[in-house]
Amino acid sequence: MCGALALAACGGGDNGGPDGGTNENNPNACGDDVQSVTAQELFDSVINGTGACTSCHYAGAGTATNGDLVMDSVEALKATTGATTAYAITGSTLKVVDPNHSENSTMFLKVAGGSTVTPPVKGPKGESVGAQMPQGLPPLSAEDLKMVKDWICSGAK
Ligand code: HEC
Repeated sequence: MCGALALAACGGGDNGGPDGGTNENNPNACGDDVQSVTAQELFDSVINGTGACTSCHYAGAGTATNGDLVMDSVEALKATTGATTAYAITGSTLKVVDPNHSENSTMFLKVAGGSTVTPPVKGPKGESVGAQMPQGLPPLSAEDLKMVKDWICSGAK
């Protein structure tokens, strides 16, 4: 049986692509090279820093501006770990932030390119994650991208 608890073992043999299964063969998954990053560090450096996510993702901005995702404080950023993603489909395990699972987190998949780039970056079940973040701004630097991934991969605390 390929139940929810056995997902990692049931991804099939073709997990090499960005839309592959939730396992170590997925290039979007957490690798061995994880540095510990706290929410405070990520907020100061990227979310409220060079990524300028807070210019849109602030409370009261409205769905069209922030997609109902608020991360205008360290506490709000931490709270995204429990948030439901707009990109979940039936049977999907996708979250905004799934601690220790960057491949299952739209927070990483969207800054890694999103589903409108070639090749598209998608969720573990092939879920589209929409456009790249930060929306309409230059993509994050490799260093900032790694920091987002490291925060999720070190437990999103
Ligand atoms: C110019 C405004 C703008 C900026 C800047 C911006 N976003 Fe967004 N974001 C949006 C909008 C609008 C949506 C809803 C549409 C979508 O999902 O693409 C969204 C959606 C998202 C989602 C999807 C939430 C879900 O339901 O899964 C994530 C995650 C996200 N943004 C992260 C970020 C991060 C991280 C940054 C900074 C690196 C950022 N955004 C910068 C406007 C912005």
